[in-house]
Amino acid sequence: MNRKEHWESVYTKNKDTEVGWYQADPEISVSLIEKALPARGRVIDIGGGTSRLPEKLLDRGYQKIAVLDISAAAVARAKARLAERADRIQWIVGDITEVEDMGRFDLWHDRAVFHFLSDPMDRKHYVALAERTLPGGGRLIIGTFARDAPPRCSGLDVCRYDRTLLAREFGAAFHVIEETSHLHTTPTGKPQHFIFLTFARV
Ligand SMILES: C[S@@+](CC[C@H](N)C(=O)[O-])C[C@H]1O[C@@H](n2cnc3c(N)ncnc32)[C@H](O)[C@@H]1O
Repeated sequence: MNRKEHWESVYTKNKDTEVGWYQADPEISVSLIEKALPARGRVIDIGGGTSRLPEKLLDRGYQKIAVLDISAAAVARAKARLAERADRIQWIVGDITEVEDMGRFDLWHDRAVFHFLSDPMDRKHYVALAERTLPGGGRLIIGTFARDAPPRCSGLDVCRYDRTLLAREFGAAFHVIEETSHLHTTPTGKPQHFIFLTFARV
């Protein structure tokens, strides 16, 4: 099964509350985004899946929001949940390791996507796209499994990071302005330790 087939199958076979990354309220992401960017700014959520982040940001006054995900099934389900509010979001179905241009955004958010990129070439493409997408002073928020999190998620190997390793991936074009440690509990009660880094685009 290739990457796209894997994720289409995950979202076709499981309800939102049956996947390990489910959060009823993505509080940590919302608070980091609010700290990093005023509501007039443009936000893109990379690998947003069926996260509740778009409606939480709409509730807080953000008006320029895009969600990208490799899974058309996830995007369709998120749009259906948002109902008439779905039209206020820009939805993009695509693989972040292949997309060349998504336009410009002031803040790039990724919870639990970058850590699946085990091929260094995929990470290189991802970072280069983030560099092109964010202007100087733009913000990048990356949440990944921490070093002591499980080695696999959704049946796939993940790369686990600490501040040094993650900052190294993003290189000289980004510098860390905040580090947040976060303990996520899956719907079945398993703890998963995350690290969130907020970077500024140099
Ligand atoms: C662990 S889930 C996290 C979903 C969401 N960020 C959240 O916090 O609820 C990983 C998400 O990334 C998406 N994804 C995985 N690889 C991707 C890629 N290469 N490009 C775009 N999306 C991808 C999956 O479809 C899935 O929705």
